[in-house]
Amino acid sequence: MRIDAADFVLKLVLFSNLIFYSIGSFMQAALKQVKVGLVGLGTVGGGTFNILSANFKEISERSGLEIIVTHIGARRDNPAVDLSLPHFNENKPVKVSRDIFAVVNDPEIDILVELIGGCDTALTVVEQALKQGKHVVTANKALIAEHGNALFKLANDCGKMLAFEAAVAGGIPVIKALSEGLAANKIDWLAGIINGTGNFILTEMRDKGRDFSEVLKEAQRLGYAEADPSFDVEGTDAAHKLAILAALAFSVPFSFDKVYTEGIQKITPADLKFADNFGYVIKHLAIARKTSQGIEMRVHPTLISKKQMISKVDGVMNAVLVHGDAVGSVLFYGAGAGAKPTGSAVVADIIDIARHLSSPEAFLNPVLNEKQKVNFVDINNVELAYYLRVQAKDQRGVLAGISKTLSEHGISIEGIYQQEGEPGESKVPVIILTEPILESAMNAALKEIQDLDYTEEEVLKIRVEHFKG
Ligand code: HSE
Repeated sequence: MRIDAADFVLKLVLFSNLIFYSIGSFMQAALKQVKVGLVGLGTVGGGTFNILSANFKEISERSGLEIIVTHIGARRDNPAVDLSLPHFNENKPVKVSRDIFAVVNDPEIDILVELIGGCDTALTVVEQALKQGKHVVTANKALIAEHGNALFKLANDCGKMLAFEAAVAGGIPVIKALSEGLAANKIDWLAGIINGTGNFILTEMRDKGRDFSEVLKEAQRLGYAEADPSFDVEGTDAAHKLAILAALAFSVPFSFDKVYTEGIQKITPADLKFADNFGYVIKHLAIARKTSQGIEMRVHPTLISKKQMISKVDGVMNAVLVHGDAVGSVLFYGAGAGAKPTGSAVVADIIDIARHLSSPEAFLNPVLNEKQKVNFVDINNVELAYYLRVQAKDQRGVLAGISKTLSEHGISIEGIYQQEGEPGESKVPVIILTEPILESAMNAALKEIQDLDYTEEEVLKIRVEHFKG
């Protein structure tokens, strides 16, 4: 009798497992499919495809949807992507067109992912896709920073979403953080290391004494740099990203043309060392701040105290420090460039939209107050401390002369250092750290220092950020 009862229980368990398994399989089979068209199969396009492929099961479980790339538009193949594999679990190879507009015009597609970059063809692709009733995901910071106001108007008019998490700081979900996680706050300021290539160059120069152009070439090889790498080193890429962050942080229109921008080309390994001796690192920082005068947006090399956590963000890593009135300071850190980190952000947007497709009343687009009158603060009216490097003739009276000029302009010196002259070298660097002063006063003093008889070369000025207020 006992054996029969055990047998019965065992059969019952097996039978119920079978029932649960069948229900599970039926639900799995009944998952709604969302069809994605991918335009651009470069570093980020390849990363996006590979993540959707490799994590298909996890993404389906998490979203309750099957996200299938059905059509790719790419002018050339990407060796990192194997398109001959049966696509996901559909046993169908993905369709590839050399004409990217074949994807834009494909009526089957729910979400169009634009990963070609730039503002020419990409603008037409996004506009056309929205007008045709497709939701759009893009990683294109230039497009959002320069055309975002018109594109969001179009997206809203068309009732479609335009998502752009991957446009800023690669894999760090900072767009979501500003629009959702920190939505309760008045944002006072934010500061970011948001160009991986520039940070990689400064770090390698500082730690290994490597040559600027050699490190830049490596960043290009690793897929970090922009197609035109001057965008990285001159600060345009960071300015695009800052314009996006500032628009979200302060709910104002995208205003890329109001970002003050300076590149990192003039920084030498010696500056990195001098800064280090004073207890600072030099980072290419993007800063947006709301003041009583208006909104400051600036990208420039910046001295940051080594005690600040953000000063430790090295290599290609990015970080964004946000200060909100309720939350205080929050630091977001992660990989800011590369196929997988950026692909991770693109896929997150695709999943978001796919989820919203199941409940259409929910909408993702940011709310930017176009009617608001916004003042942007001119860089001349910003008050900061400065690092100055004056290459001066190795003679008496230099320190006194520079100090006198600074003092006449109301500038106090926090620290000064004059390097011993090398044998046979007629000029020596004089390094000065100042107290905070208006940029216009500093520029007036610098003009005079530049004209002093013993000043050789252009004086280098780097701003210092203390993250106060
Ligand atoms: N060129 C960019 C960078 C890529 O180096 O950060 C990511 O936006």
